[in-house]
Amino acid sequence: MNFETNREVLEWYEKQPRTLTKEFIGEIDWSAINKHPIDKSLVPVLMYMRDVETLTDVYYEELRRTPTGKDPIIRKFMERWSAEEQTHGEVLNRFLNEAGIDTDPKWQKQVINSVSTSYTVTNYLITTLTNLIGKRFTATHMAFGAIHEMSTTQGYRRLSKLADHPVLSQILTGIIREESAHTTFYRSVARIELEKSEISRKLSRFIVKHFWTPVGSGAKPASESNYTIATLFGGEGGMK
Ligand SMILES: [Fe+2]
Ligand SMILES: [Fe+2]
Repeated sequence: MNFETNREVLEWYEKQPRTLTKEFIGEIDWSAINKHPIDKSLVPVLMYMRDVETLTDVYYEELRRTPTGKDPIIRKFMERWSAEEQTHGEVLNRFLNEAGIDTDPKWQKQVINSVSTSYTVTNYLITTLTNLIGKRFTATHMAFGAIHEMSTTQGYRRLSKLADHPVLSQILTGIIREESAHTTFYRSVARIELEKSEISRKLSRFIVKHFWTPVGSGAKPASESNYTIATLFGGEGGMK
């Protein structure tokens, strides 16, 4: 898909129906989950993904204060994007519960409260700096987002393959479809914004090269990010 303007990208995105609708979730055979074993080593991975999806709300709050977040087109995308990521966290939590792994009724609050103060302060500073750079930061933000969404999608594909659990695969197929639409949005807007200015290209390259980290790291302890990545991408076929 070769979009020429950000508005075209938004119009495309808005035409995409949601996959994880109430009907889709209602049709999942939740009671069949505990009939199939889930490899214990994948439970922390599921928890990590659930938490990172939930933390999107925190990122969204931060991003709303930046020039990118104030752009009406991107803002419109982000409203739906953030709601979709919340659903991903919720269905993953329900999967864990149905698989016999209890979670606290207030798990969402706990996840948000567990984010370290240093992370919050760093983000506050980054947001403030971003405001100084202004609109030129949009390309960087979109490039960052595209990498995050793409790596998340690959992570879910690997999880589905490694878990080999019919109900989890059904859930992940729905999530992956939504992540793919997110990827298309971020990647398309990034391309448009990067083509606009050399400063944007240099800035994006510099920031991605020096500051990019896998999604969730920083907000979540490094040990958890490392475990998730090693488990998903460490085994046979992982690197490929
Ligand atoms: Fe997601
Ligand atoms: Fe996403």
